[in-house]
Amino acid sequence: MNLKEALNLADKIVFEKTGQHLDDLQEAVLKGTLERETYKHIAKEFDCSESSVRNAGSELWRILSDELGEDVSKTNFRSAMKRLHNSNVLNFAHNVSDSFNICREPRHPPDIPNSPNQQTSNPKQTKISHQDLSEMPDLGNFFDRTPQLDTLRNWILQQRCRLIALTGISGIGKTALASQLVRQIKEEFEYVIWCNLNASYTPDELQHTLIQFFSRSHNPDPPAPKQKPLPLIKYLQNYRCLIILDDIHNLFISGELAGKYRSEHEEYRSLFKQIENLSHQSCLLSIGWEQPREISSIDSQNIPIRILQLSGLDTAAAREILRDKGLAEIDCAEALIHRYQGNPLYLKSVASLIQELGINASELLLNDTVLLPEDLKDVLQQQFSRLSEIEKQVLSLFCRESEPVNLAKLLEYGTVRSPDLLNALQSLSRRCLIEKTGNLYCLPPVLRQYIKGF
Ligand SMILES: Nc1ncnc2c1ncn2[C@@H]1O[C@H](COP(=O)(O)OP(=O)(O)O)[C@@H](O)[C@H]1O
Ligand SMILES: [Mg+2]
Repeated sequence: MNLKEALNLADKIVFEKTGQHLDDLQEAVLKGTLERETYKHIAKEFDCSESSVRNAGSELWRILSDELGEDVSKTNFRSAMKRLHNSNVLNFAHNVSDSFNICREPRHPPDIPNSPNQQTSNPKQTKISHQDLSEMPDLGNFFDRTPQLDTLRNWILQQRCRLIALTGISGIGKTALASQLVRQIKEEFEYVIWCNLNASYTPDELQHTLIQFFSRSHNPDPPAPKQKPLPLIKYLQNYRCLIILDDIHNLFISGELAGKYRSEHEEYRSLFKQIENLSHQSCLLSIGWEQPREISSIDSQNIPIRILQLSGLDTAAAREILRDKGLAEIDCAEALIHRYQGNPLYLKSVASLIQELGINASELLLNDTVLLPEDLKDVLQQQFSRLSEIEKQVLSLFCRESEPVNLAKLLEYGTVRSPDLLNALQSLSRRCLIEKTGNLYCLPPVLRQYIKGF
């Protein structure tokens, strides 16, 4: 590769990134670098200060590193250009009249297989979407959630939020909503990956999985033995990535107030902090019954973090769930939906029981009976087993009252000290186990019935 070819290649990369060709000083820096000159010498030749040359150099190395996804500097610029020039896989322009494209082929519909070698004749930079959605569940029919989908799309695509927490009680439809969202917006990203977290998924493992995914998609060749992969944040900075972490509650300890990391998962805190605080162009969607405490306590619109606490389906969508079970037309459908908080999982479970046993649902509602099928108890048990002692005590106070209660009433019992009570109420709200309207707290009927069963 001769000097002219190397400069042409570098010019194309810089033009791709900045929309501007190399200026005279930048060209002089690159030419001098290729000829193994010092900055001092380049400055003398160009008749300018050494610091101007250094600044121009650092800016160039930053642009080239960003675009190539590897660290480029004065010491390896020549070899980086040579590798690029020789690389067929990465589809680099040999001929200066070709379009320049760094592993970023045009987006194409999912049914056309991704081809890393695909050529494009479009001179404008276009992007390919690399996706690993093998862990994203397919939950079947999906009804409505239009406002929530609009909100999430707005936060992610318009407001470019870096971290979004989707929270809500078990069965409310977090995973279903997120997978619907991903289907709608995945082509807006260069990389999309869905990971289901379990309690033994360490921060190192997660970073490894993500880095593997990004680096393999970026360069299908196995890395050279000495080539170190970039840190995760570099990928989030260089590319527009969407990472979905589902069941994030598995990272937190049982028997404590919500959102406290298990000791072996403390490192997640700094990972999320980086994603939250450092400048990048990607988005992390964290889904679960509990969210990290640092995220749950954020209440400012001025930072690029958002929380969506999901509540039940509206009546029309919930009716569709009942329709699937042949119960949409019953007189008391609306009351049934209300009793089960529009929770799609609760409704599916109860509707199956009603259908199987041929129960008259209206009679059930008249009697104030709350059916708790065994599969529903199992789901609730998983969430209740995570509660701290103090939260369990507070819930038992709620069971003594049939109406919503205020703080003063709860304190009257004298069984829980006021600071503990406040912390427990905050934690129970974050877990969506109690509801607050004005200054009144209440326990939903399904949970009340479940607790009373002990
Ligand atoms: N909008 C919806 N329309 C139809 N079914 C839904 C909807 N939301 C959730 N479901 C169903 O309810 C059940 C629980 O949903 P899921 O997303 O797994 O809840 P979560 O992740 O909050 O625990 C699943 O069977 C899912 O298919
Ligand atoms: Mg889920």
